[in-house]
Amino acid sequence: MLGGGRSSEREVSLASSASVREGLIAAGHEPIAIDIGRDGVWRRDGVPIALTPGQGLDGVDVVFPVLHGPFGEDGTVQGLLECLDVPYVGAGVLASAVCMDKVMFKELMAHAGLPQVDYRAVRAEELVSDPTGVLARLEGLGLPVFVKPARLGSSVGIVRVRAAEELLGALQTAFEHDGLAIVEAAARGLEVECSVIGNGEPIASEPGEIVLAAGETGWYDYEAKYTPGGMQLQVPARVPPWVRERIQEIAIEAFQRSGCSGLARVDFFIEGERVLLNELNTMPGFTATSVFASLFEASGVPYAELLDRLVQLAFERHTAAARHRH
Ligand SMILES: Nc1ncnc2c1ncn2[C@@H]1O[C@H](COP(=O)(O)OP(=O)(O)O)[C@@H](O)[C@H]1O
Ligand SMILES: [Mg+2]
Repeated sequence: MLGGGRSSEREVSLASSASVREGLIAAGHEPIAIDIGRDGVWRRDGVPIALTPGQGLDGVDVVFPVLHGPFGEDGTVQGLLECLDVPYVGAGVLASAVCMDKVMFKELMAHAGLPQVDYRAVRAEELVSDPTGVLARLEGLGLPVFVKPARLGSSVGIVRVRAAEELLGALQTAFEHDGLAIVEAAARGLEVECSVIGNGEPIASEPGEIVLAAGETGWYDYEAKYTPGGMQLQVPARVPPWVRERIQEIAIEAFQRSGCSGLARVDFFIEGERVLLNELNTMPGFTATSVFASLFEASGVPYAELLDRLVQLAFERHTAAARHRH
């Protein structure tokens, strides 16, 4: 198990990996914890480990990278694991990278014809060279808009902008985290999430609804995500059966179109009966009470079994890939 990591989601990863560890033990596995420090060093029991390409990772059978955000969920660690030639849980290099990048992901999903909010990408250089042009390009989105760093998570660096004069400041906040930002038209209505597991034939969980303590005027910011009581998961989501089905269908299509494997949590906005795809997380928060695990629990797959299935899927994918000729 890999936990911690260099990103601002380090603490979230540590909570996830502590739960995953317990769940794996309950499923009969013998997890070994490797911590990736803020400094990027991989340590086992506090001692830096040596890695040799082609020779696996410290003798383990399978790696569970319980890492969120940049340097963990974005294909970088997955690339290293490929070089080590060790089976690992979750998405491969390309799917991890695509799903981490909100602009790339949206472009790919738009290409597949999946419904999303209207959006624009903005590069830091553009804002410096032509701020008026950038602001003009954003006008069509109306207000409010959500301004986000393209490659981050846990709502870090995201600003909800209600007035045009706040736009520049919000973009600058996003650029503190990433050279690329995405500005999105605001969706109204419910936020619903759906978990997916599998490789070639993925299955979707019962969708669940995020009910915020702050009510309808709030949004799912860092505080709502990580303050106890900040949100409640309502399963099943309060949507008609055909909307529920559409959510599951789009969740699976997004999973397949982005080339995911293992697991994902696919997030939506539901405006009346309109289902809008928001994002796909290849390594969602993973404590036993996380949305990802709770949705499968509600769908009849308990935590330890879920982890065990993910381990099997990792072996399956590695074996299938090993059969290919390069
Ligand atoms: N276009 C949007 N319309 C309405 N709310 C949004 C929009 N984009 C983001 N939000 C709010 O911000 C939260 C975080 O945005 P999201 O894109 O999911 O980023 P993260 O990867 O940090 O979770 C969402 O869960 C939602 O509450
Ligand atoms: Mg999100």
